Amino acid sequence: MIITIDGPAGSGKSTVARKLSERLGIPYIETGAMYRAVAWWCKKNNIDIEKRENIINALSNMNVRFLTAGASFIVMHDGVPLNDELYNPEVGDLASRIAQIPEVRKFLTYRQRTLASYGSCIFEGRDMGTVVFPEADYKFYLVTSLEERAKRRVRQLEEKGIKVSFEETLESIKKRDYQDENREIAPLKPAPDATIIDTTNISADEVVETILTSMSGAH
Ligand code: C5P
Repeated sequence: MIITIDGPAGSGKSTVARKLSERLGIPYIETGAMYRAVAWWCKKNNIDIEKRENIINALSNMNVRFLTAGASFIVMHDGVPLNDELYNPEVGDLASRIAQIPEVRKFLTYRQRTLASYGSCIFEGRDMGTVVFPEADYKFYLVTSLEERAKRRVRQLEEKGIKVSFEETLESIKKRDYQDENREIAPLKPAPDATIIDTTNISADEVVETILTSMSGAH
């Protein structure tokens, strides 16, 4: 069983996917962390991402693994899990830029489909229901107002000990939405058969209940 949860930055996809994973007892994959991992690797190695051959080399040398463990998704580098490194705003912006590069999308799409071959899984991202798993059993797309998403992102970063301003966060989300929605390959948009859930005024637990109800009604 494949469940996809797509939506823009800050719509609560990761929290919802993690909670749903706990409820259903199946792993979840945070595909944004995979794009962030490539961005982090390029930054760490001072790779000029404007040059296609540099990106191709970086992908073949990238010594990063993606693992699931219970209801956690882990990005490992040299046997150490990456966490805070992936979530700073600079890596987020770079992730959105490298996500426009066809070789990067092809590489990560392949990795995502490989992870799916191990069994039932929840995939959250931008193009899970449209491109990576068009045949998914259940597809959801989360929408949330821009202000609420910026508020959530500030709170989330604060919890990780990273301080950012609300205005800057709002601007960076706006820019990221634009890049994600307007890129040529796999732009951010709901699959025609996705169930759209507005999460602006409801908690992550309520979103999970909505998803479970919709899944039980579908079959
Ligand atoms: O979800 P998150 O904000 O961590 O994703 C970081 C960036 O990775 C997004 O802005 C988007 O450009 C890219 N991404 C993508 N496709 C996915 C997941 C993330 O293009 N499936």
